[in-house]
Amino acid sequence: MAVIVEELLGLALDLARRAGDLLLTQRPANLEVDTKSSPTDVVTDMDTAAERLIVGGLRAARPGDGVLAEEGASAESSTGVRWVVDPLDGTVNYLYGIPDWAVSIAAEVDGETAVGVVNDPSKKRVYAAVRGRGATCNDRPLRCSARTDLAQALVGTGFGYAADRRAAQARVLDGVLPKVRDIRRIGAAALDLCSVAAGRLDAFYERGLNPWDLAAGGLIAREAGAVVGGLRGGPAGPDLVIAAPPALFGPLHDVLDGLGAADGP
Ligand code: IPD
Ligand code: CA
Ligand code: CA
Repeated sequence: MAVIVEELLGLALDLARRAGDLLLTQRPANLEVDTKSSPTDVVTDMDTAAERLIVGGLRAARPGDGVLAEEGASAESSTGVRWVVDPLDGTVNYLYGIPDWAVSIAAEVDGETAVGVVNDPSKKRVYAAVRGRGATCNDRPLRCSARTDLAQALVGTGFGYAADRRAAQARVLDGVLPKVRDIRRIGAAALDLCSVAAGRLDAFYERGLNPWDLAAGGLIAREAGAVVGGLRGGPAGPDLVIAAPPALFGPLHDVLDGLGAADGP
């Protein structure tokens, strides 16, 4: 396992850096934009170009591995390894020239996330984690916030693309906001999770994340000491992701549970 994890980490770092360079340096003045699940759920030609680069690199280096990538690449695994890829997390920020977007690449080994890399090229930050070995940013160890009082916590969140889900998320936010220091909506879930890992956010929650939003950043947050889970002991997943230091997880969980944050659309 040790050798394979090193190999997976090296490959993830290389491809996340190359895709990040592509996105940073080759952004055309007029991006081609298409829509997906709703008129606000956009995909650009750069999302697909970055996915092509990453998936091409994975297939060339490790042809038997499985792949689950946001823009459609998929392959069954014959090796026990599956890559979970968001080639561009924060597409709306990228479209508007807001520098909060990232490349997210995770490797699962036998169904468990073992390696995660998130590249934030605009800020020259590369986050990485290997399960059981801690998390780093530019090779420096990361530690999540030590805050213990939810009322003093800066909490990140995000919203889905469907109007009915957003209305439900707004109702939950209405109940959370008076109970915390403040809310941030950064616009890239992978970076929200890395910000929890780095202690720049005390905690984060979001309903509706996909595996590619969560896989790498979730491991990085966990390896930096955060608890990453769902409601009532369940795993983090599409219903709800909560990432928080151990002392804040319970209080934030209870507020979200009381507000029905995992119910509805
Ligand atoms: C989105 C971002 C956003 C989150 C959405 C995600 P995309 O990913 O991570 O912050 O709120 O739920 O879908 O579409 O930019 O890859
Ligand atoms: Ca995403
Ligand atoms: Ca994306």
